[in-house]
Amino acid sequence: MLDPSAVSSPESAVSGTAPAPETIAEAMRAIVGATACLTGDTDTEKYVTDYRGLYRGTASAVVLPTSTEQVSAVLAWCHAHNVAVVPQGGNTSLMGGAVPELNAQAVVVNLARMNQVLAVDPINDTMTLQAGVTLSSARVAAEDHARLFPLRIGSEGSCQIGGNVSTNAGGTAVLRYGNMRDLVLGVEVVLPDGRICSSLRGLRKDNTGYDLKHLFVGAEGTLGIITAVVLKLMPQPACTAVAFVAVTDPSAAVALLGVAKARAGQAVTAFELISGPAMTLVLDYLGNPVPPLAGNPEWMVLIELSGNADEEALTAELIEILETGINQSLVHDAAIAASGAQAQTFWKIREEISDAQTRTGGSIKCDVSVPLSRIAAFVDDASAQVRALVPDIRMVIYGHMGDGNVHFNPLRPAEAVAKPFLAEWYTRISGLVDTLAHAEQGSISAEHGIGVAKRDDLTTFKSKVELQVMWQIKQALDPKGIMNPGKVLPPLVQ
Ligand code: MLT
Ligand code: ZN
Repeated sequence: MLDPSAVSSPESAVSGTAPAPETIAEAMRAIVGATACLTGDTDTEKYVTDYRGLYRGTASAVVLPTSTEQVSAVLAWCHAHNVAVVPQGGNTSLMGGAVPELNAQAVVVNLARMNQVLAVDPINDTMTLQAGVTLSSARVAAEDHARLFPLRIGSEGSCQIGGNVSTNAGGTAVLRYGNMRDLVLGVEVVLPDGRICSSLRGLRKDNTGYDLKHLFVGAEGTLGIITAVVLKLMPQPACTAVAFVAVTDPSAAVALLGVAKARAGQAVTAFELISGPAMTLVLDYLGNPVPPLAGNPEWMVLIELSGNADEEALTAELIEILETGINQSLVHDAAIAASGAQAQTFWKIREEISDAQTRTGGSIKCDVSVPLSRIAAFVDDASAQVRALVPDIRMVIYGHMGDGNVHFNPLRPAEAVAKPFLAEWYTRISGLVDTLAHAEQGSISAEHGIGVAKRDDLTTFKSKVELQVMWQIKQALDPKGIMNPGKVLPPLVQ
């Protein structure tokens, strides 16, 4: 039995000495073939640099395997030779979770070539995919069988299913369908020593002991590499109704969500909060299209209902919700999408906020969740305290309010330069926001994960016992610490 007090303070370093990079690369070429093994700065650049260009590491080799057996052989070799392994999907992590550390001599295992749809079972309502299938291809595979795979995130064209599972991705339809964890029925994982552990069964009931798949969902590749998954499929809704709505303030938005749920129940599919400065930023980024609502409202929500009624009935339901909102002084303007194309335009505005921030630079990204009952108080307090520090800061606040998830991302004042602004304020402001969320019984990472960006914050915001248990699991499965070292788990303070 592992004694919790015996869990020391492991650093991110892999235990044991690794061979020279050229030896590692040679071994990798022997397993995956020369064309699937990249070395040298130019060829590996895009795999060792994160999506926002904030984290950059080094790798002895980047391998692109085509089978679970190849992944297994890579891990068995790296395990035997004390080599760090960094699993990578579409490399869209916002937390630096999918790139190696500096001087790591790591092997990056990119799953892009394992992109086969292995099976779709419309009777069982499941599909089995290799980990490298992109989210958009997964959604198309479901559509081809008149089914819905409901995970929806802005990066769906490049993010991959394995990464979505490894980070327990969320997005804009969690309110109705849940997080990735709720959509996974089975996983195939290559363990750090190369063994393959598979639960690729499409069962909705299976109480045969520990449900091991959940260990790997959200583990960010620190316990093994997910190589294939079985996912749940849903019926496709017959129609949707979408509206941009100007609300009085965040507390009115929460009240409107209550109205929507009471009137439309399960049909409430998405309920996204967007602040005025977030809208200004994204409209500017998109080249100033016509704003969905006139007068630059301070707070907006984007609501989507979906269901099996006919479109007219669903739209009538949405109108009733908005009328109740107006009567209760929650809503002061609204634009209902008049066509599928306009609904898509509305969603594009929402989904491009993230890229607009990346392009602008100088964004303090906080991804918190709090109970819905506390969300308005949290937004008010956090905004006031941040403004007291930097009065001209732009309050880019948006996110999946329906499930209590706020992307609270203050943006540098227009005249400030990104790098010095972040150097001066990032830690202080993100610490303040996380502390307020924690005080509201919230989480400092609702859906973006921990990676390296939030790793050390866990020491403050997770209990010592939780961290000890996390380390015990890590050490049981990965005693040499080869899997994605430096990510998720902070050094444990005794
Ligand atoms: C989003 O909701 O747009 C994503 O979580 C990405 C982000 O917040 O940057
Ligand atoms: Zn989000």
